[in-house]
Amino acid sequence: MGNIIDPQLVPQRTFYNGVTMPGIGMGTFGSDRFSAEQVSAAVAGAIEAGYRLFDCAACYGNEDQIGEVFKNAFDKEIVKREELFITTKVWNNMHGQGDVLLSCAKSLRDLKLDYIDLFFVHWPFANYHAPGAGGDERNPDSKPFNLDKFMNTWRQCERLVDMGLVKNIGMSNMTIPKLEAILPLCRIKPVAIEMELHPCFQQPELFQYCIDHEIQPIGFCPIGSPTRPDRDKTENDVADIQVPELVEIAKAHNVHPAVICLKWAVQRGQTPIPFSIHKNEYESNLRCTIEDPLTDEEMEILKTIDKNNRLIKGQVFLWEGAKGWEDLWDLDGTITK
Ligand SMILES: NC(=O)c1ccc[n+]([C@@H]2O[C@H](COP(=O)([O-])OP(=O)(O)OC[C@H]3O[C@@H](n4cnc5c(N)ncnc54)[C@H](OP(=O)(O)O)[C@@H]3O)[C@@H](O)[C@H]2O)c1
Repeated sequence: MGNIIDPQLVPQRTFYNGVTMPGIGMGTFGSDRFSAEQVSAAVAGAIEAGYRLFDCAACYGNEDQIGEVFKNAFDKEIVKREELFITTKVWNNMHGQGDVLLSCAKSLRDLKLDYIDLFFVHWPFANYHAPGAGGDERNPDSKPFNLDKFMNTWRQCERLVDMGLVKNIGMSNMTIPKLEAILPLCRIKPVAIEMELHPCFQQPELFQYCIDHEIQPIGFCPIGSPTRPDRDKTENDVADIQVPELVEIAKAHNVHPAVICLKWAVQRGQTPIPFSIHKNEYESNLRCTIEDPLTDEEMEILKTIDKNNRLIKGQVFLWEGAKGWEDLWDLDGTITK
């Protein structure tokens, strides 16, 4: 069956170990707004459109339904397993000894796969909150980042590679101070770091740190997550797709501003993983990577609209005694304890 957009034309990224991954993928976090059925239907449509990278996670609560879509696509020979690049993540309540394997086994069973292409530690600490927890909710058991505990989780990820259950491993929601402590201790270095990246939150230092260490940056919330739940919104947040410079560039290219966020991301070098259940949107999100690139001048203009506006602040993961969400992100250059 022919794809709407030829996956072979889509930019690819090559990890330090030689493995390749598409330069754009589809997010699958339906959050409170979209059911597992809506998200999995979009995944089915996205495979037909030509997407080959899907960003899943145990905590998104929809791997079972997405797995049905993958199985159907393989059974009907719409796509071969080796043509898809599928990621998933271990959630914060499964960092303990033996739990990472259990989490991976559950994701494999739900996704109906016999290996994962890229397995992430979703957050660098085991601070659990139930799905949908309000922004002010705190778990009294939450603790600051602990290097030994994190390395215990990472060692389990390394063993998943040894066992052949996952091909590559990565980290998410990291900071430079944490990476400085972690990377020298890794037997298997992360191939990718998933982090929030959009024009109003470019994280230039962390982005460059990843490039310098041959780690592929993967950008979540690439459009500025306009549909994120209210608990993840604060009054000072800026909407990327309404920033005048970006809107102006969108007009020049005759596309929605969302598409400009994605062109910028792919041309800059990260791998964006936009989410949408709407066919017209996810198709144009993929198509924009193979046509009508931004000019160098437009890329320069977009560089200037960074407002250091972190959207996913992670306040529900804070521990007793923490001052505020900034403590999660080591803003003074040292790991906050
Ligand atoms: N590692 C982590 O901790 C982490 C954290 C957050 C997210 N993620 C991953 O990143 C993915 C993406 O993040 P996200 O879903 O929060 O944000 P996003 O991709 O920045 O924004 C998604 C929203 O943008 C709108 N949109 C998408 N394409 C569009 C287009 N072409 N034109 C107009 N509007 C468009 C859609 O809204 P409408 O439905 O209203 O059209 C959609 O719901 C997630 O699904 C998840 O896989 C990972």
